[in-house]
Amino acid sequence: MIVKLSNGKEIPMEMHKVRIVQKTYLVPVDRRLKAIEEGGYNTFALWTRDIFIDSLTDSGTNAMSDNQLAAMMVSDDAYAGSESFCKLASAIKDVLGFDYVLPTHQGRAAEHLLAKVFVKPGDVVPMNYHFTTSKAHFELAGGKVLEIFADEALKTQSTHPFKGNLDLQKFKDVIKKYGADKISFIRMEATTNLLGGQPFSLENLREVRKIASDNGIMLVYDGSLISENAYFIKMREKGYENKSIQEIIHEMMSLADIFYLSGRKSSCVRGGFIATNNRKYYEEIKPWLPVYEGFTTYGGMSTKEVEAMAVGIREMTDVNVAGSAAEFVKYYAEKLIEKEIPVVTPPGGLACHIDAMKFLPHLPQGQYPAGALAAAIFIVSGIRTMERGTISMERDEDRNEVYSDLELARIAVPRRVYTMSHIEYAADRLSWLYQHRDLVGGLKFVEEPPILRFFFGKLEALDNWGAKLADAFKKEFGDT
Ligand code: F0G
Repeated sequence: MIVKLSNGKEIPMEMHKVRIVQKTYLVPVDRRLKAIEEGGYNTFALWTRDIFIDSLTDSGTNAMSDNQLAAMMVSDDAYAGSESFCKLASAIKDVLGFDYVLPTHQGRAAEHLLAKVFVKPGDVVPMNYHFTTSKAHFELAGGKVLEIFADEALKTQSTHPFKGNLDLQKFKDVIKKYGADKISFIRMEATTNLLGGQPFSLENLREVRKIASDNGIMLVYDGSLISENAYFIKMREKGYENKSIQEIIHEMMSLADIFYLSGRKSSCVRGGFIATNNRKYYEEIKPWLPVYEGFTTYGGMSTKEVEAMAVGIREMTDVNVAGSAAEFVKYYAEKLIEKEIPVVTPPGGLACHIDAMKFLPHLPQGQYPAGALAAAIFIVSGIRTMERGTISMERDEDRNEVYSDLELARIAVPRRVYTMSHIEYAADRLSWLYQHRDLVGGLKFVEEPPILRFFFGKLEALDNWGAKLADAFKKEFGDT
C-alpha cells in the first residue's frame, strides 16, 4: 500500500509483518571479486554464501504467507486423485474462471506442452514480446517468434503506461502476410518481463481478442505476472480505478482461450499450470501431461506446492499482494532516478531495470554491457542482479550474434522479502558505481553453451577490469 507521509512523500508500506527471518552475510569485496571470477562473470554461477541481496529473480524467491505454509501441512500425497488438486482447481475456477486445469512443474513446462500441441514446423507465433523460455520452446517446435510491440516499448525512458501493448496494425499485417492458418496462436505476456515488466491495457487486450476472433486465431496468455498486470490496469487505465484486482482479472480472463503461468511469481510458490474453458484444447494437451510432467492431479509439482498455489492464487487478488513488488519497484526507480541513474520508466512489475547502454555508453553491444553491469554491481555491493540483454539472446542459424533490443540489468524485487533499507543501500552503491562507470569494461565468452547460454555461459572481463573496480571500491569503503 502506498502511504503519504506528512511531508507529502509517498512510501510503499508493507501490509504484512515478518515472523520468520533468514540470516544474510555481506562478504568482503575481495571475496565478491573472486566469486564472480570463479563464476565466469555470470551471476547465475554465484552461490548464496557470497550474496548479500539476491535480486537475480522474483521467481520462486518470494516470501510465502502463513496461510500458504499452513496449507502445505495438509497436502494429500496421492499420486492420482489428490484432494490438493481439487483445491487448486477450485481456486483457479473462482479467481480465473477456468474449468479445465493441467498442472506443470513450472512455467516453461507449460510452454513445452503448448509448443508440442499447437506449434507446427513453419508456423509463426506472434506476441507482444518474447520470454527466453517461451521463444526457445516455440522455436524448438519449428515455429518462428514474431514480436509485434509498439515502437514506444523500446524507449527505456518513457511515460507510456502500457508499453506491453500489442501493435494492432502489425498483428493485422502478420495475418495478411502469413495467413491465419500458419499462426499457432497469439501470445500476450502479462507485464512483459524482458521489456522491463511493462503491462498491457485491457483496451488493447479487447482489440487483440477481436482481431483474433475475426480470424479464428487462438489467444494465449502468459500470466506469470498476471496480478501485477491487473494492478497496473487499476492504477493506470481509465475506468478501472475503482475495480478490484479480482474484477479486473475476471475481465481479462473472459477474453482468453488458453491461460498458462509460472506459479513462481504472482502466486508466490513453485509450479505452473495451463487452464482453459475449451474442452477440445484440454483434451489435446492432456495425454502429454503424464508423459512429460506427471499425472494430471500433480503435473510434476509436489502436492505441498499444489496446496500453497491454491492459496497463493486467491491471495494474489488482494491489492496489497498484487502491488507488493510493483510499489517497491517504483520506490527503487525513484531512488535511482534521484541519483541520475538511467532506469526503465515507467517502473514495471517485477524488478527495477537499469538501461546498461546508457549506464555504460562506452561499451559496444558485442561486449555485453548488461552482463558487465550485472557483474560490476555484484562486485561493489554483493547484490546479485540478472543480465537481460544480448547474452540472454540466442545466436541465429549461422551462429551470428543477435543483439538484444534492450540491454538491461534487472534488479528483481522478490515479493515481501527485502525492505526499504536494502533499497537505500543499493541506491548508494549504484550511485558510486555510476560515478566510476569508466572503470567497467566489456566481457567476452570463454565457454558458450548452444542454447539459453545465459544460464551456464562463462565469460571473462576484458583487461581485468573487475580487479581495478574492486581496488577503487576498497580505497573508498574498505573491505565491505
Ligand atoms: N513466462 C514468463 C513471463 C516468465 O517470466 C518466466 C520465468 C516463464 C514464463 C518461465 O517460467 O521459470 O516457471 O519455468 N521467469 C523467470 C525470471 C525465470 O527470472 O524472470 P518458469
